[in-house]
Amino acid sequence: MQLSHIPKTSDHFGRYYTDSDIASLLVESMAVDSPKLAIDLGAGSGALVGEARRHWESTHFITVDIDQKAESSSLRSRYGSTFRHHIADALDSSLAEKIGLRFGEVDSGLCNPPYVRPKWRKHFAEILEDAGLSHIIPKIGCVQADILFIAQNLRFLREDGKLGIILPDGVIAGERYSKLRHSLATAHRLERIIELPRRVFHKTDAKAHIVVLTKNQPDGKDIHIQRLDNNGLLSSPILLCPDRAAARLDYSYLSNTLSRENQKRVGFELRDVTQHITRGTYSSTQRKVAPFRIFHTTDFDGGAVNVPRQFRLTKKDQLIAGRSLALPGDILLARVGRNFDSKVCGVMHGAVAVSDCILILRVHPQFQERVLRYLKSTKGRAALLAAAHGVGATFITIDALLSLKI
Ligand SMILES: C[S@@+](CC[C@H](N)C(=O)[O-])C[C@H]1O[C@@H](n2cnc3c(N)ncnc32)[C@H](O)[C@@H]1O
Repeated sequence: MQLSHIPKTSDHFGRYYTDSDIASLLVESMAVDSPKLAIDLGAGSGALVGEARRHWESTHFITVDIDQKAESSSLRSRYGSTFRHHIADALDSSLAEKIGLRFGEVDSGLCNPPYVRPKWRKHFAEILEDAGLSHIIPKIGCVQADILFIAQNLRFLREDGKLGIILPDGVIAGERYSKLRHSLATAHRLERIIELPRRVFHKTDAKAHIVVLTKNQPDGKDIHIQRLDNNGLLSSPILLCPDRAAARLDYSYLSNTLSRENQKRVGFELRDVTQHITRGTYSSTQRKVAPFRIFHTTDFDGGAVNVPRQFRLTKKDQLIAGRSLALPGDILLARVGRNFDSKVCGVMHGAVAVSDCILILRVHPQFQERVLRYLKSTKGRAALLAAAHGVGATFITIDALLSLKI
């Protein structure tokens, strides 16, 4: 995957990314669709929520910053009443009352916490205890703010709520935080970790990682660990079993220590990287009368990787079509018919109307290329055939498709 607006050369701090590139990657990695209520504790300039509002149209945002001059205080006048800001200490014992929230009611948390060690206050023990993290700190009376910010976010999140947070390398790789990593990976579902280039994001420590977790949903699924490289590409993921999270979770270390053999064997189920899958909506009758072209199983063009350009709808046709269309990045697969295994292609540009004999598969952007390459390979075709049902293996179900191991 290539991030969209990455400058070709770095600025004078040696940064190749804008803050909004990284904020956007964090929000996309959370893979949630317009949560009702999101918080940002330590919102600062509002870089994270400002980006989130571009992805989440109907979300109400609550931001908190201790700094009276933090720019997040002007988000409401900039973006409207879906934003509410509080000048407050995010580590205050009565934060919930102060900002008019109850613990356990927030859908999503966004956070880039301050990297400081605040003077110990008695109620910090309560914050950690309430978040199930009291056992993880190496020494009582001494804790970094980022750990307390994780704890406060966990308290505010509802069951199944999601946290997207930027954490320093020490928390992801340091020995003293092994209990914390174990706890996050086994009491919750630790989904993704993306190692960022050094000093990439506004006010981040030398090296930092994006971390995405779902509260209280441990399901034993592997943690996806990647690195964002200076050229704007995300590495292919290393999949790590949650039981092994205590050791280290930084991509650079894992990619050097796991043997090449092990890395090659690391794979994933298509289901794990799928955001959405649906059948096309147009029947053969509708295909005959529609005023625009509809892509059908007979239109797959041999080995072509992408949908032929004549199927791109004009803006006017998109308005007429008005229902689920395939969009750039989607993968189209014939679900029925002879040779269905050879009928796979991607949508590169524009929107495409698709017949009901075709499946529209939308995977996380960083897996698009790998999934498409696999499905078009000899190995992928053999796997499609093996997963197919019907006399002479002539159709594939959504469940069978999503069970493919890539
Ligand atoms: C690393 S900056 C992140 C700012 C912002 N989230 C961003 O990504 O641009 C940390 C922010 O936390 C705020 N902060 C520090 N201690 C805080 C506390 N106890 N309560 C609330 N905000 C705090 C700082 O004022 C600063 O704006």
